[in-house]
Amino acid sequence: MAQRLKKAVIPAAGFGTRLLPATKAQPKEMLPIVDRPAIQYVVEEAISAHLPDILIITGKGKHAIEDHFDRNFELEEEMRKSGKGKELDEIRELIRKARLHYIRQNELLGLGDAIGYARDHVDNESFAVLLGDTLLRPSGSCLRKLVEIHERTGDAVLAVEEVPADKVDRYGILEIESETSEREFKVKQIIEKPGLDEAPSRLAAAGRYVLVPEIFEILDTVGPGKNDEIQLTDALQILAQQGRLHAYQFEGKRYDVGNKTDYVLTTLEFALDRADLPGIREAVAEILEGERNI
Ligand code: UTP
Repeated sequence: MAQRLKKAVIPAAGFGTRLLPATKAQPKEMLPIVDRPAIQYVVEEAISAHLPDILIITGKGKHAIEDHFDRNFELEEEMRKSGKGKELDEIRELIRKARLHYIRQNELLGLGDAIGYARDHVDNESFAVLLGDTLLRPSGSCLRKLVEIHERTGDAVLAVEEVPADKVDRYGILEIESETSEREFKVKQIIEKPGLDEAPSRLAAAGRYVLVPEIFEILDTVGPGKNDEIQLTDALQILAQQGRLHAYQFEGKRYDVGNKTDYVLTTLEFALDRADLPGIREAVAEILEGERNI
């Protein structure tokens, strides 16, 4: 029986080159999905999975993340004077609930390297990882399930989703050893961004993990992999070879907001679901019909 999980790590230090020039002077994790920066949804998800102790891995040019999760008393006072302020209630409540910590990744050597910076903070305990540029809906249920599987098995677990063939070269792709329970698998192999011909399945890592502390020693040994980066996938592959990696095919949807097309589609989908923003569906239909003049 594993220890109860308490901590979450959000890597958010990456360059975000696929969203340039928008990410030249602002973090991609701060780009808005309607009216909240992407990383706010990720922090909310960690909290709804009962993991309020959150370490965000940041880097150069990422100050806006820390500022966003800090109180802004002048702004609050201005809003109060003008009888407004509701817009800030939600983020104020989030700041109250979360215990946020930050550490800077010195050099952007890849996701595996970024996770290595969490070593002292997690202090030999297992921990969750939520990629800062990936949103999941429904929020929280996938992570809670990963925690449950980890607490049952004592092993590392990752969330997976089935992706279309033309997207296997974007993610870590799994070969399954066996289905251990409904939607739960023992992983035989995981390969980072394979070509379609070498992809063992279409089950892709979905940006949510529960990792065991041994991962740090493994990360020390893996060395640069695909794209010359220290890949988390390569460390997970070592756990898979030892029979110590599980996967959970979550029910819901992953939104990878780190590329332009999915960023736009995510914003649209989230906007369409907002009761306080009526008329978008009709407007989109009119745009598609070529009938709308803004
Ligand atoms: P990506 O694989 O999307 O890399 O990172 P990236 O460098 O941010 O983006 P591109 O490829 O240049 O467009 C997945 C998550 O891991 C973090 C990113 O911030 C993102 O949330 N990351 C990645 C780090 O924290 N450090 C790294 O060295 C790389």
